[in-house]
Amino acid sequence: FDAFTYDPGFTSTASCRSDITFIDGDQGTLLYRGYPIEQLAEHSNFLEVSYLLLYGNLPQKAELENFTDSITRHTMVNESLKNFFNGFHYNAHPMAMLTAVVGSLSAFYHDSIDINDPASRDLCAQRIIAKMPTIAGAAFKHFVGEPFVYPKNHLSYSANLLNMLFSRPSEEYKISPVAEKALDQLLILHADHEQNASTSTVRLAGSTGTNPFAAMSAGCAALWGPAHGGANEAVLRMLEEIGDVRNVAKFIEKAKDKDDPFRLMGFGHRVYKNYDPRATIIRDTCHEVLQEMGMENDPQLELAVKLEEIALKDDYFVERKLYPNVDFYSGLIYRALGIPMSFFTVLFALGRTPGWVAQWMEMVADPEQRIGRPRQIYTGAAKRDYVPVDKR
Ligand code: CMC
Repeated sequence: FDAFTYDPGFTSTASCRSDITFIDGDQGTLLYRGYPIEQLAEHSNFLEVSYLLLYGNLPQKAELENFTDSITRHTMVNESLKNFFNGFHYNAHPMAMLTAVVGSLSAFYHDSIDINDPASRDLCAQRIIAKMPTIAGAAFKHFVGEPFVYPKNHLSYSANLLNMLFSRPSEEYKISPVAEKALDQLLILHADHEQNASTSTVRLAGSTGTNPFAAMSAGCAALWGPAHGGANEAVLRMLEEIGDVRNVAKFIEKAKDKDDPFRLMGFGHRVYKNYDPRATIIRDTCHEVLQEMGMENDPQLELAVKLEEIALKDDYFVERKLYPNVDFYSGLIYRALGIPMSFFTVLFALGRTPGWVAQWMEMVADPEQRIGRPRQIYTGAAKRDYVPVDKR
């Protein structure tokens, strides 16, 4: 047994070497390829950040143009993919649809993929980044019972996504620049976060040499849970449950009670033992977006602010270094943009896609990487003999 280190939840095991993302959880620092997240969120855009994550440097002008052109040329999905959606009940959770349909892309792109060929890997990467919004848009339209909207390649990545979510054949849809900018920034902030559960899942699945679209689907499945990407949905459900500022103190007590499974959603992080730098940016954006939309007196924003204020002064949260994380305010922005709660995690998945793909590309190209195969400490029965059922 001594041969293996017991590390449940992998709190102290580095599963790989990576050049992509750096986190200092004590300082609250997050860098993509060395660039501070604050600078990227302010000055860059999602496709430029995607390029950075995939290829290691900010693109030259022509490189960005070529990359953007390639992404927009791959936004369409095979028309028969629509049939997958018809198989889902209208109120299927959008993450269920996303996970299944992303995996189904492996049926369209398999024999043509050579994961040992960098050009083939690039094509896979660009295809998945390009097609995710189209699939997400289709899942959304199926969910709300409206006709699918095809991608429009003259729009920016985020504007195209908004158009696929909200435009209807019956009326003119005007894309709000505030919504476009806020969504793009949210996608940037979610783009990578080193070896989190979903990224580790993509790497583990990918380490077997499986189809990359199947590995991305595994990432979606891992992201869905409320302890990971599902937390943004869980935050809004929690705010609904709290209902009134007068109930905040009661819910803080519930979160501290070890006999109560309730946790303050959007609080705490495995790596950050300081304010999550993404949460700082999102909190400011949340105030700006809600103000722009005339929702600055939104009761749920008031609740969130109060919850944060009380928790940050409470010994329980202070001692355990529990701060708001990326998901604490993101749901409020999504809701202000008109996005239903159960769709929030799909947007997280969209944002995380370049990270998943970049990590998959890095892993496949890394000569040190072997199939991911953790060991265990066996705690079951000792060897014993089979007894026929009538003699047990
Ligand atoms: N509310 C109340 N107590 C908490 C919370 C919380 N949100 N988070 C952690 N704790 C307590 C926990 O009970 C434990 O207390 P004790 O030491 O007395 O047993 C201590 O803090 C350490 O927590 P842990 O569960 O050992 O920490 P972890 O690193 O395994 O879990 C986490 C990290 C994010 C899963 C957890 O903080 C949590 O469940 N947070 C709420 C869900 C959430 O917001 N998830 C989104 C994470 S950020 C987005 C993403 O990357 O996916």
